[in-house]
Amino acid sequence: MNNDQITALVTGANRGLGKHFAAQLIERGAKVYAAARRPETIDVSGVEPIQLDITDPASVRRAADVASDVTVLVNNAGTATRASVLSGAFEDIRLEMETHYFGTLNVIRTFAPIIEGNGGGAILNMLSVLSWLHDPTSGAYSAAKAAEWAMTDAIRQELAPRGIHVTAVHVGYIDTDMAAFAPADQKTDPAVVARLALDGLHAGEPEILVDDLTRATKAHLSGG
Ligand SMILES: NC(=O)c1ccc[n+]([C@@H]2O[C@H](COP(=O)([O-])OP(=O)(O)OC[C@H]3O[C@@H](n4cnc5c(N)ncnc54)[C@H](OP(=O)(O)O)[C@@H]3O)[C@@H](O)[C@H]2O)c1
Repeated sequence: MNNDQITALVTGANRGLGKHFAAQLIERGAKVYAAARRPETIDVSGVEPIQLDITDPASVRRAADVASDVTVLVNNAGTATRASVLSGAFEDIRLEMETHYFGTLNVIRTFAPIIEGNGGGAILNMLSVLSWLHDPTSGAYSAAKAAEWAMTDAIRQELAPRGIHVTAVHVGYIDTDMAAFAPADQKTDPAVVARLALDGLHAGEPEILVDDLTRATKAHLSGG
């Protein structure tokens, strides 16, 4: 993939990791649609701000009408309620699934034909070590990330023959608002996560494991 020929759309590009994805894609020479629920909060020079709530099908449709030249989709937007699946509010448990699973899936179903029509490209799904590590303190989030991981594996096989490469990025805590509660020495710089993710995407890797915790967790999956 040649960076200066990429037209990317990044979801949740107004803050956190998404802001780094948008800025680094610009640095690499791409055209970038920076998508956010409130596009007026986007603060990355060189991007084209675009309104997008991934849980709102009408918003996704409108974004696709505007960003019809996209070749790389970065599914970064996410939420973390830290709800327990047993005692958390059901609306929080639903929000996690509506965002990470159904929302991301709808964005993919809408943009895959666009990417294909533009000659092929790639989709990057921002996942987590919690796709595999299911602590009850983040039960609802983990279940949604596990579902998103399974979906990612399935679409990778479906989209490959259509010229669309699918990459999954898994990582532990990132130093953003979402992990504000976590100790500083357990968090990875979001600029580093974005760089490794984009390098892996460029290299055509199917899965990028950013940190030691994530690599160890994946390695132990079959060990129970
Ligand atoms: N932080 C971590 O420790 C960590 C670890 C592993 C994976 N991840 C994943 O990395 C991704 C980025 O997270 P982050 O750390 O940057 O979190 P963050 O700082 O909380 O930012 C979340 C972003 O997602 C956007 N968003 C949430 N719901 C949305 C929706 N329905 N439609 C469109 N945008 C929406 C937010 O927009 P608003 O400003 O409008 O709320 C914000 O831009 C997520 O997928 C997350 O699950 C994070």
